[in-house]
Amino acid sequence: MTAANTRALRGRLLEFLDDPAEAGAASSYRYHADGMLVIEDGRITRAGAVADLLAELLPGTPVDHYPDCLILPGLIDTHIHYPQTRVIASYGAQLLEWLHKYTFVEEQKFGDPAHAAAIARFFLDELLRHGTTTAAVYCTVHPASVEAFFAESERRKTRMVAGKVMMDRNAPAALTDTAERGYAESKALLQAWHGRGRQLYAISPRFAVTSSEAQLEAAGALLREHPDVCLQTHLAENHEEIATVRKLFPHAKSYTDVYDRCGLLGPRSIFGHCLHLADDELQRLSETRSVAAFCPTSNLFIGSGLFDRARLRDPARPVRISLATDVGGGTSYSMLRTAGEAYKVLQLQGQNLPPLDAFYLMTLGNARALGLEAEIGSFRIGGEADIVVLDPCATPAMAHRMATVDELEATLFVLMTLGDERAVRATYVLGELAYSAS
Ligand code: GUN
Ligand code: ZN
Repeated sequence: MTAANTRALRGRLLEFLDDPAEAGAASSYRYHADGMLVIEDGRITRAGAVADLLAELLPGTPVDHYPDCLILPGLIDTHIHYPQTRVIASYGAQLLEWLHKYTFVEEQKFGDPAHAAAIARFFLDELLRHGTTTAAVYCTVHPASVEAFFAESERRKTRMVAGKVMMDRNAPAALTDTAERGYAESKALLQAWHGRGRQLYAISPRFAVTSSEAQLEAAGALLREHPDVCLQTHLAENHEEIATVRKLFPHAKSYTDVYDRCGLLGPRSIFGHCLHLADDELQRLSETRSVAAFCPTSNLFIGSGLFDRARLRDPARPVRISLATDVGGGTSYSMLRTAGEAYKVLQLQGQNLPPLDAFYLMTLGNARALGLEAEIGSFRIGGEADIVVLDPCATPAMAHRMATVDELEATLFVLMTLGDERAVRATYVLGELAYSAS
């Protein structure tokens, strides 16, 4: 080993080993108050206490020291739309009106590769500035939007999951494909990008309102041909949406059944929202190990409803849950802010979100939701060194509050309640500094 491609990070090291709600809080995480992470050629080679690791560090190895900051695996967002960076903060509409009035207008611009490339650059800058190193990303119906996104992500070596939105009805003509074209274009993009460097494809039928049954069947066929690929779509976000789906698919038992009949449920399928589901729908999501993406800022902003975490986690038929921003329905790129809003959504229902659960979700939990826990989401030896450094005293209000806090869980709670991108001191991608606040 030479020191050339090696670097170390020093600070308060925290990673999750398992879901605190299942494994119990104490055995769910590993924490070193003075910890060190050693990275070689972009991969983690050692993680532990400074007292144990300092002596074996080769002389000359650069050490980035962040006293009092938390060092965590890079944050992961399981549902976000990169073409909606100029849709975020659009006033006064609920889902279907919001889509037509704002989103479909903005998404039409992504047929232009130069526009798509410029927005992809802005979007990835923003993610890294917010400490997010991996996301499951919707592009638009245009293949050029996917090409532009993956090309920019490849340039930065970020691990991204993304796909072309498939939609063949109930949208402007400039935004629709057909069942056949949606399949063919998705397949070509998948073959070009899935597994190229760190890029991964996600089959992305937008939702049952904008896809015909033939198109959903085509998405299902593509998933059967490529079972290692993720599928992402929206499910049961809004009452008007659900009523529309009932009319469009009169033979289906439920909204979930529309997707189920086409073979879209499964362990790599991520369903955004899942707010208004009947028991039999939750049963199918559970049986198929499908994932429900909890998008609290979006659900509040678009007025869609309250995600019922306790109900989804019913031990009789538990549904896997991830956490996501859903920008531009969501109002913040920050996973910290998103966790803080998740806490409030659950409080409104007499539930809550312990800080360990929240930070598990943002890291290992979301990595597991995307089937990426072997690569990212922890400090596993040999894993990819995507790292975020968080400062719990980043703002005057945080520093002031932290004066009475000395234990880990309370620190995490301050970060998720008061923190946002201002708390991100640095973000590393494959061991390289990709964003620094200073
Ligand atoms: N349902 C279908 N498309 C969308 C979208 O872009 N955002 C949200 N929040 N819901 C959707
Ligand atoms: Zn969405």
